[in-house]
Amino acid sequence: MFSKHVQTYRGLLRELKKSSLPPHNINPALSSNFRRLAEQARRSEIILDDLRNALIFMASQREHKVLLDRYNPLVDLTAEERIHATARRVGLDMPITHERMIGAQQSTTMRAVFHPATTIITQGRRVVTMLSTQVLNCDPTSISFDSPTSEPKITSQDTLNSLSIAAKTLTDLQPVAFPTETVYGLGALALNSSAASRIFSVKGRPPDNPLIVHVSSLDMLYGLLPSSFQMPKSYDLLIERFWPGALTLLFPSDTNTIPPIITANQPTVAIRMPSHPVARALIALVNAPIAAPSANSSGKPSPTTAEHVRRDLGGKLSVILDGGACGVGLESTVVDGLQEDGNIRVLRPGGITVEDIQELLREKIQDPKLLPQVLVHRRDYQDKQLEAAPTTPGMKYRHYSPTAPVILIMTTSPPQNVVPSSVSSFLLSVKEGMQPSASVKIGLLTLTNSKLGTLVLPVVDGVEWCRYELGPVDDPSVTARRLFDGLLTLDQRGVELILIEEVNDTNEGLAIMNRVRKAASEVRWITF
Ligand code: TXA
Ligand code: MG
Repeated sequence: MFSKHVQTYRGLLRELKKSSLPPHNINPALSSNFRRLAEQARRSEIILDDLRNALIFMASQREHKVLLDRYNPLVDLTAEERIHATARRVGLDMPITHERMIGAQQSTTMRAVFHPATTIITQGRRVVTMLSTQVLNCDPTSISFDSPTSEPKITSQDTLNSLSIAAKTLTDLQPVAFPTETVYGLGALALNSSAASRIFSVKGRPPDNPLIVHVSSLDMLYGLLPSSFQMPKSYDLLIERFWPGALTLLFPSDTNTIPPIITANQPTVAIRMPSHPVARALIALVNAPIAAPSANSSGKPSPTTAEHVRRDLGGKLSVILDGGACGVGLESTVVDGLQEDGNIRVLRPGGITVEDIQELLREKIQDPKLLPQVLVHRRDYQDKQLEAAPTTPGMKYRHYSPTAPVILIMTTSPPQNVVPSSVSSFLLSVKEGMQPSASVKIGLLTLTNSKLGTLVLPVVDGVEWCRYELGPVDDPSVTARRLFDGLLTLDQRGVELILIEEVNDTNEGLAIMNRVRKAASEVRWITF
């Protein structure tokens, strides 16, 4: 009983220290306030809950600020000003929203704690009001569709209630987090600029990064396309085989329908039809397309469970639908098949593999002269102009980074000028590069049956190893499903460094390595 309060109190002090300016002196008044409240919390679970909420909020604010500093070109603006700057940039005139000062809707305890802390955490900037976040259960097995175009049938009353609350929240122009088969999405009505702008402020998303629009039927798709658009043959095939599913296609954007905030003023719009029953049912209930990026603070690993979303964005949105863990675990494949040469360009590898796409095209198009090539950006072609543009997924901004730094461990042959370290010397020396401290936790994400995965880890003074298994070498779909959970779980366990093992970059491995390379700040080669 007692340890819960002490832990929370220590956590709060740690957060205060991290969010204070160098040399990281904790404001003594704040720390004594927290100590007093922690003492009181021994007698009241409500105060303990409040303190825990405070802890989650402080951590999220600090991370949010760090991310904004690192990634957001509009960092000097308040949240509201950023929304307006985004709107202006895409030619919109936004209504003024009224943000309240932090604490305005919080309990007395929270106000007491936060009031003096505001300037330290936010450095005088206003922050969005903290909301109470409901996590609502949705049972995907209680939802069915007779045909791809039909309405959902929902047999569980609880699921229907949850979906109805989420649908109402969306039509009230507020965002909702919901499960898809790839990752959890942070959804808002795609055809309403005010609703869509909330996505950017909740995630701290750079305004020039466009959003994927999700539809629940082909009719909804056609309603979004310009009337003059002729569906390429390759798109017909891809849609027939992979929709609903983890494939996003670029289409010309009809500026009369799609608000420019969705496309960041690009001429194309990215659209997909998710296969997760909860996602499709939600879109069908709202009867409108839903824009949804992954439901994480910008720059963080994407969430694959409702709990990941709650930990990251809790307090910043009012509804999270919990439909269990995502089956695919990595985001959709983003494909551009609109270029004149008719080739399929994979802008972001994802849940539908390049091999799946190649196989489909070879099966359906017999004439080799008509067979489109499947080109993976950066692997098969370079495009300097494209790489400078934020529309190329994951190119301009850092992605998938947990709080702990990540080192990618390559076990294949190194490039010519690189001498690999022996695995034991690498593991024995890994603590040396870190901040001096008596003991550190180091996370390892390794395959279950690889050499590194089966290695008996050396005993190193002051190092506690935390291993998380990514599944067997020959089934990358398991690794895909576990990767983000692995990064987030190790972060949650408080590791200070994460080592992650290279996987073979075929099939789902291509998307896995795409995410891992972006998460890693360093690459090291080892031998056995
Ligand atoms: O699986 C997924 O795709 C998930 C779920 C929620 O559907 N969504 C997702 O969204 O991953 P997000 O925003 O995290 O990633 C979407 C990527 C972005 O990197 C963006 O650059 C790219 O899609 N994108 C969106 N619109 C685009 C466009 N018009 N042209 C090129 N890329 C686009
Ligand atoms: Mg994302």
